[in-house]
Amino acid sequence: MYKLASSILSADFNILGEQIEQIEAAGADYIHFDVMDGHFVPNISFGIPVLKSIRANTNLIFDVHLMIASPEKYIKAFSDAGADIINFHYEAAKNPLKLIQEIKSLGKKCAMTIKPGTDVENIYKYLNELDMVLLMSVEPGFGGQMLIESTLEKARKLRDYITQKNLVIDIEMDGGIYPDNLGMVLDAGVNVVVAGAAIFENNKINTNIDMFMRTFKE
Ligand code: DX5
Ligand code: ZN
Repeated sequence: MYKLASSILSADFNILGEQIEQIEAAGADYIHFDVMDGHFVPNISFGIPVLKSIRANTNLIFDVHLMIASPEKYIKAFSDAGADIINFHYEAAKNPLKLIQEIKSLGKKCAMTIKPGTDVENIYKYLNELDMVLLMSVEPGFGGQMLIESTLEKARKLRDYITQKNLVIDIEMDGGIYPDNLGMVLDAGVNVVVAGAAIFENNKINTNIDMFMRTFKE
């Protein structure tokens, strides 16, 4: 079962509520929140108050991608603000196992995220505890970049490993995914697709989401 996570990083924040209604009506599964702190990544986006406001107005699952230093300091706040899935970066965590346990003790789903240059084998030892792995297919920090094709090889390797170990873990991929390269992303074993620029392109949210959904069904 494939899922679409709409990244609102490329939304028009002047009419965010309306755009989220459109995302929900078009059948996307998750809202993907790209939280950036200007330290872990060279950009600043949005955070806790934005999640809280949106939580009051939608039933969509909140997939929160924390691109922040010291994620351990903020897990509880994002959980309270309405996160359903919390993704933290392996590269940012001092004690990944402790962080996973904390996220799960708050009743949330936990995902670990790796940057394009991080070898996927680094996270094998955590897989037993994870609900999802988020593989970045661009350098984190900005929407609208081009997918780095070598990251598909990591997805394939991880999917094979997960299957071999009989684990049930989602593989999410994030960055540069458009309807025209979606096929190869799914072929590599990804089952949760993040898209931002592709969804808000030309302000045609419904049509753009539909293109993803159609490929999911093929
Ligand atoms: C990049 C973010 C992505 C991004 C989505 O740091 O994590 O979620 O907004 O990527 P695009 O816009 O390429 O679909
Ligand atoms: Zn993201």
